[in-house]
Amino acid sequence: MSVIDSLAKRRSYYQIDKTLPVDAAEIVKTIETVTELVPDAFNMKSARVIVALGDKHDALWDAIYDAFGGKVPRGKIDGFKAGAGTVLYFIDNTVVKGMQEKFALYAANFPIWANQANGMLQLSIWTALREMNVGANIQHYNPIIDEAVKELFDVPEEWQLIAQMPFGGIVAEPEPKPAEDISVRVKVF
Ligand SMILES: Cc1cc2nc3c(=O)[nH]c(=O)nc-3n(C[C@H](O)[C@H](O)[C@H](O)COP(=O)(O)O)c2cc1C
Repeated sequence: MSVIDSLAKRRSYYQIDKTLPVDAAEIVKTIETVTELVPDAFNMKSARVIVALGDKHDALWDAIYDAFGGKVPRGKIDGFKAGAGTVLYFIDNTVVKGMQEKFALYAANFPIWANQANGMLQLSIWTALREMNVGANIQHYNPIIDEAVKELFDVPEEWQLIAQMPFGGIVAEPEPKPAEDISVRVKVF
């Protein structure tokens, strides 16, 4: 499958279930491989990933519901809990701080680059999951859920939670996207 084909198939899948079309071990292996392949500034490798599966995934979404004290509808959270797993994305700030000390002239850039590299990783894993016919979406309940996530997964203090990506079997395809006039966004000279 070409990169373009894979990117075209990646969508926000909100209707997911616990029936995965591949073994969870294959998903974990793919996430590991993608994490190795995605670049980072100065090759600093600032991204960290936790893959929550099965009971841990369910416990995560229950904890997210609890962290908001009922302010997020149960039905919405249960839509994510209906999946088979969640990829949690972090930046390891010990790495970022180390780079800031080592390359003081670029100090202000390292947190920005770490975020950019994390976004590259998120898209790459999201796309790779879809290549395996696994649907995913991306959520941002951080920082409200940071303490609950730290407790559930024994997360090091310096790991900063960036995004949550629930995934699972595809129950329904999203609506096709409306066509856009891409010349508004891409200029050629
Ligand atoms: C940086 C970023 C943040 C996003 N945050 C959320 C989010 O918090 N919740 C959500 O449901 N979708 C979120 N999305 C998904 C976008 O809304 C979605 O990708 C966009 O509408 C295009 O739809 P598609 O993913 O089906 O192509 C986010 C996407 C990106 C790239």
